[in-house]
Order: sequence, then structure tokens, then C-alpha cells
Amino acid sequence: MADAAALKRMAGEAAAARVEEGMRLGIGTGSTAEAFVHALAERVRGGLKVMGVTTSERTEALCRELKVPTTSLEALPHLDLTVDGADEVDSQLRLIKGGGGALLREKIVAAASDRLLVIVDESKKVEVLGAFPLPIEINGFGMVATYLAIREVAAGIGLEGDIILRRNGESPFITDSGHLILDASFGRIPEPEALSRALHSVPGVVEHGLFLGLASEVILASDTGIKTLQRPAAG
Ligand code: 5RP
Repeated sequence: MADAAALKRMAGEAAAARVEEGMRLGIGTGSTAEAFVHALAERVRGGLKVMGVTTSERTEALCRELKVPTTSLEALPHLDLTVDGADEVDSQLRLIKGGGGALLREKIVAAASDRLLVIVDESKKVEVLGAFPLPIEINGFGMVATYLAIREVAAGIGLEGDIILRRNGESPFITDSGHLILDASFGRIPEPEALSRALHSVPGVVEHGLFLGLASEVILASDTGIKTLQRPAAG
């Protein structure tokens, strides 16, 4: 049985094999995205020319170390393909992301890309989103009022559960963009679109980790090999 690291490596390698010469690439965050960066770096050493835009300081540092060329989203505002991991994926390719705290930049980069290719091991595939606590990025100003408002709008659509401030040791976790993260344990989110709208109605919410209608394809690594999931046609 392959361990989690081996499955992440398989997924990362399968995604790196999809990268074409000259592509403008969004590069995600997390251990699976890092496996992709390692596999991509090998292709770059072999002569592949690409330009990356990273979704976190952590991924930027890895790309620098492995000599994968990067630039800013300002310099390259339209990308061909973004490759990123996820915390949960459902059959409609709706995602929960943000376990690594990079959800805001990840969503901006994914939205600026023609395609979002998600790489996960099979443990991330779920029937209903929500077992993984939903990360919600909030402004530090008025955080208690924002927390209460989130609870209220969530309760309005029948969702309840612990909502806790993410910590980094003794201190609050601070995102690359200087915000805080609340992790909301709703358990099951049967209607992610309704929750997305509700969360966006709260002024202190900067972004949330529900990625809806963004993923074009999922590479799923399991003991039996690589499977791909396509987004069902709309309508
Ligand atoms: C970071 C993310 C990651 O993609 C997600 O947490 C999955 O991470 P990993 O590949 O380490 O399991 O959304 O914000």
C-alpha cells in the first residue's frame, strides 16, 4: 500500500507531465503542490520553458530554491493553467481549500487561469463537503463582530458547529496577506453555493475556502494508480 507521500508524488508527477512549453502557470500551496513543484523543476532542468505565479510565500521560496522561474500576478495577470491541492473534493469538483492558509491567493490565481487542475490523493474525495473544517479568511478589524455575523448567517441556512481562530503556536495564524483565519466545523455542507453567498454577505469576510465552479479537472492518486475526474457539464 502506497503511503500518503508516495500518492502526493504520483499526483504531482502526473500534473507536471501535463505542463506544456511556454505555459503561464499558477502554482498552488501545500504538500501535494510541493510534490508538483519538485516534478516541474525536474522538467525545467531538462529544458522546459515556463513562467510561474505562486500562491504563497512558502511556494515562492521552494520555486526559488529549485530554480523554477516565477513572476508576479501583476506582471502575468492571465494564466493558462493552475495546479493546486485541496482538502476536500466532491463529485461536482467543488472543493474545500485553505488548510495551508493560502486560500485567498489560491482563489485569485485560480480565477485568473484558463484551467484549474487539482491534485489530491484519494483520501480527499468526499460525498459531501464539510468534514474538513472550512477556512474563512477575515480582516483582523472587528473580528468578534465578524465571527458572530458568520455564526448568524450560517445558522440562517441550517449550519452550526465550532468556529475557531486558527493559531500558530501562542499567536493567531496570519496569512500572507495579513489576515486571520477562522476554521468552521460545520460537519456537512449540503449546499456550498448557499454558504458561499451567506459568507460573502458578511463585511469582515475577505474570502472563504469553498472553491465552486473553479476546478476543471482533478487528478486523484490511489493505490491502484491515477484517475481523473472531469467537471460534469453545466445544465
Ligand atoms: C493550502 C491548500 C492546500 O492545497 C490544501 O490544504 C491541501 O494541502 P496538502 O496537499 O498538504 O494536503 O489549500 O491553502
